[in-house]
This record gives sequence, C-alpha cells and structure tokens, in this order.
Amino acid sequence: MTTEKESYIQSLYAERLGGGKFGKEQKVYKFEKIKRAKRAALAAHPGAELIDFGVGEPDEMAYPDVVHALQREAEKPENRGYADNGIQEFKDAAARYLWKIYGVGGIDPDIEVLHGIGSKSVLAMIPAVFINPGDITLMTVPGYPIMATHTRWYGGDVVNLPLREENLFLPDLDSLAPDVKKRTKLLYINYPNNPTGAGATNSFFEKVVRFAKENSIVVVHDAAYAALTYSSKPLSFLAVPGAKDVGVEIHSLSKAFNMTGWRLAFVAGNNKVIAGFGNVKDNYDSGQFKAIQKAGVYALDHPEITNEITAKYERRLRAMSSALTELGFNSKMPAGTFYLYVKIPKGVKNGRTFSDAEEFSEFLITEKLISTVPWDDAGSYVRLSATFESKGKADEQRVLEEFRKRMGELQFEF
Ligand SMILES: Cc1ncc(COP(=O)(O)O)c(C=O)c1O
Repeated sequence: MTTEKESYIQSLYAERLGGGKFGKEQKVYKFEKIKRAKRAALAAHPGAELIDFGVGEPDEMAYPDVVHALQREAEKPENRGYADNGIQEFKDAAARYLWKIYGVGGIDPDIEVLHGIGSKSVLAMIPAVFINPGDITLMTVPGYPIMATHTRWYGGDVVNLPLREENLFLPDLDSLAPDVKKRTKLLYINYPNNPTGAGATNSFFEKVVRFAKENSIVVVHDAAYAALTYSSKPLSFLAVPGAKDVGVEIHSLSKAFNMTGWRLAFVAGNNKVIAGFGNVKDNYDSGQFKAIQKAGVYALDHPEITNEITAKYERRLRAMSSALTELGFNSKMPAGTFYLYVKIPKGVKNGRTFSDAEEFSEFLITEKLISTVPWDDAGSYVRLSATFESKGKADEQRVLEEFRKRMGELQFEF
C-alpha cells in the first residue's frame, strides 16, 4: 500500500531536487563519504579517540552573560510575539558594531540594516531578490555554496571563480568574458575566506567596487568570519569608499560569539538591496525570537568576547600549523577564520599515493582517526579546523600532541 503512495510522491519531486530521481542517486557526496569513513574507522578501533578537525563550528557555548541576557529577555511578555523584520534595538546595535569594530560610519539602521535567521538564510534569500532565469551569479570556489544553489533554483546560472594560492586566494575578476559580465547580477565574495583562511585587502575591495560599478553588479560580501583575524585588524567591505553603492555585507554572530545554534545575523549596506531582501524575507519567515535579538544586542556591544575566542583559535592554529610545517606541509597561519588550508601530499613513503583531497582525507581518518575536510575545486587541499573539542587548555595540548604524534608516524612525500 505504502509503496503505491511512495511511487506517486516520488514522481512529483521538482526538477530542482532532481525530479523523480531524488533520493535514488547512487553518487555518494563528499561529506557522506567522510562520515562513513569515520564510522568505519571508529568501529575498527573501538574506544580510540577521534581527532576531529572536520567541524565547522565553535566547540564552546555562548558566553554566560549572553546566555543570561537571553534568560532575562525570554521571560518578558513583550518579547513573545512575531519579530517580523526585526527589532530596532538590534539594527541600532549592528550599526554601532560596524562603527566600533570596522570603522564603518554612516550606516542608517532604519533602511540599511536588517537581521537574518543566520547568514545562511540571508544568502539563501538574496537570489530571490535579483535572479531571473538566465542571470548569472559569480561564486568563489572552493566556498560556501548557498547562493549558488538558490541561483540555480531560480533558473539562473552560476559561474565559478577559482581561488588559487598563486593569486593569494583572491578571484581573478579580469578573467571574465564580456558576455558573462553582461549577464551577471550578483557577485559572492567571502573574506576571511572559508575554507582557505585568506584575507582580503583594501585594494582588492576597491577593485571589487570598481568592477561592480563598471558592470552593474550587486556585491554580496559574506563576512561570517570577519571578526576572527590574526595578524591584521578586521576588515569590512563597507569601509571602502563606494561599497554602499554596490552591495551589502552579511555579519553573523555564529562564529564571532559562539552562537551558531542561536541563528542570528545581520545584513547591512545598500538600501535598495536591503529593501528587496526585506520584502523576500517577510515572505519567508517572521523574524528571529526577540529575546535572541536582544541577547544579540548584548553580544554586539561586548566585542571583547570575540577577542577571547580569537586568542584561543590563534593558539591552536599556530600549534597545528607548526606541526604540519615540521612534517613538510606548506602550512601558513590563516589571515582569519578558524581553518588551516593545506595542499595534500603526493603520498606516503613506500605506500599510498593520493590522486585528490578526498582520497587523502579518507586515508587520514581510516589510518589515523584524524578528521579533515577535503576540497578539490581549485587544486587539492584539506581544511583543518581549530574548533576541536578539549577539556581545557591542558587537554588541548594533549590533543595537539597526539595529532603531532599520529601524523609523525606517516612519512609524507610531497
Ligand atoms: C562562509 C560561511 N558563510 C556563512 C555561514 C553560515 O553562518 P550562519 O551560522 O550565520 O548561518 C558559514 C557557516 O559555516 C560559512 O562558513
């Protein structure tokens, strides 16, 4: 009986999900492969410790003061209802934050800021504002693919801009053909960049503004990691003259304040982009819980929280990077984010060779119970995240030592 039901529903899936083939594809995707390799390795070595450098989110709770702010606000009757397109206090706090951390002044919280239920959801909605069938979104790869997915769902096309080491992981905007530039409506950039850890420069942002103006393109700068920088001060696209004429920037509380599960972000910049986004958003959700937005105000007003978080990642990243360098990897401290991005070795002495990063990543899990994320979009690299769990600083040292030891048992060839 149920088979009959299943069969007609199977035939109703939209083409954007693969139509009738949805859920039946044999292809196993990267993250699923890694999960399977992880499960198999743990089953083969019961009780062994997995060193998990594969996670893309903070390993700790939000700070107690932020949690207490939420507790207080959650009890207030005035916070119970729909938040629609957001409360004024959060928009005001966002404008203050942009000024305090990034030196971005002149943001009008009434028309140039809106909140989002995480930056993922903002990125998912922006194509709805601009993309008609045949329009192009430029996406940097490797990267966070949400805007590409939704561009395709609206019938648009995606053109990838590879991020290569020799180009400091910045996209080559000069490489685009005139026809592509003509059809392009959106450019997605993300700095500090996931997964490469690269930072942008003022001159790159200036070039982006010129490029956008010359070609009538909307820039979307995903600043999810913007506050997590190591050797230089946090940089905002909006700090560059003219940026507000061409685009918006999305900030998230997920990584800068250990608030991934809370789902809170804001988008700021060009008022026409913000107005379009507000219209789409209003048709998708009814806003984040006001108590969460008010706790978010507390967080944005306490950027010293981010400084503490950054200090921890910096300590871990330096240790991870120096261990990799000792083993022969070409590993550098990232400009920002909590990721190291290193080129894979050719193989191990008298043993395996690796044809791509997926193979190398699977090998590390299977042989050494070390989890990483492989990227094969523009060269073969693995991403190692400094967000592994530990029970305090001493335990952190132990995990890092264990990483060093296990990796040292493999003789890599480059
Ligand atoms: C580059 C990038 N953008 C956006 C996000 C999503 O962040 P949020 O938690 O604000 O939705 C992530 C999360 O990993 C990310 O890596």
